[in-house]
Amino acid sequence: MTRRIIIDTDPGTDDAIALLLAFASPGLDIRLISVAGGNVGLRHTLVNARGLVALAGVTIPVVAGADRPLVGQFAAAPDVHGDDGMMGVSLPPGPPATPGIAADAIRAELRAAPANSVTLIGLGPATNLALALTTEPALADRVAEIVLMTGAWAEGNITPSAEFNAFCDPEALQILFDCGRPVTLATLELTAQALCTPAHVATLRATPGGAALHVATEILSRMKPSRRLGGRGAPQHDSCAVAWVAAPHLFTTRPVHAAVNLSPGPDRGRTIIDRWGRNGLAPNVTLLDTLDADGFFALLTARLPTLP
Ligand code: RIB
Ligand code: CA
Repeated sequence: MTRRIIIDTDPGTDDAIALLLAFASPGLDIRLISVAGGNVGLRHTLVNARGLVALAGVTIPVVAGADRPLVGQFAAAPDVHGDDGMMGVSLPPGPPATPGIAADAIRAELRAAPANSVTLIGLGPATNLALALTTEPALADRVAEIVLMTGAWAEGNITPSAEFNAFCDPEALQILFDCGRPVTLATLELTAQALCTPAHVATLRATPGGAALHVATEILSRMKPSRRLGGRGAPQHDSCAVAWVAAPHLFTTRPVHAAVNLSPGPDRGRTIIDRWGRNGLAPNVTLLDTLDADGFFALLTARLPTLP
């Protein structure tokens, strides 16, 4: 079954792998790529998104979105992704961005879709998705599922309390929690199970394929092992969200209640994820709990070589 997909992203090295995996997944009918500033600012993330579309040889509209959150400013992560967002890996020049702005383009796609038919995949701060759904709330009924790489039930990665995407726009994330449509979360604890190691890179280097596989492998080789995870590998955050849509059999899940801390101060952006039902509140999201890591990397190794 083909699923209508909109991907919102801030490429970003891990976004790049996630986008290439999405482009290589036959069951995903990707209608739109909307871009947020997030990791390294829109002047880089938009160029990167366009370049990745060109690299994969796909015809998918790319539209610019928010370069700041609903409140305040985005954090940035050039230390993680390099100043250009791709750790210096060159991408081909991409097609021109579609005129207009992300929130309008997302709404136009939803307006044209049947009820309960569109999967929103959020790989960056949730600003664009939240703006679309708060501007025209009735369009939420076109959304089948919102899949987000965001949050953590334990330690953060941009502050001790908060994961980067949630920290960048916590109000936008809360809007998605409250929108009444099914939300699925790939948190840092899930993505910590998808650690890319030098052995994985060596396997990809030895795999026959085209330019997209070569670029993906080079990006993966330059991603820094996570200090937070003992340097054991580079967590493939955003690809986990795409893998849930493309290969759900790789995951186990649990229903939980989730909320996000909107207060100023050191806990801003913390996601309060109640894995054991301690707060007595009904579950409002699906938490991705475990990942078959070998199956995940086998998926990448099988799918990336299908790109040109
Ligand atoms: O915390 C990881 C998330 O923040 C990923 O989406 C990464 O690309 C950054 O945007
Ligand atoms: Ca991202």
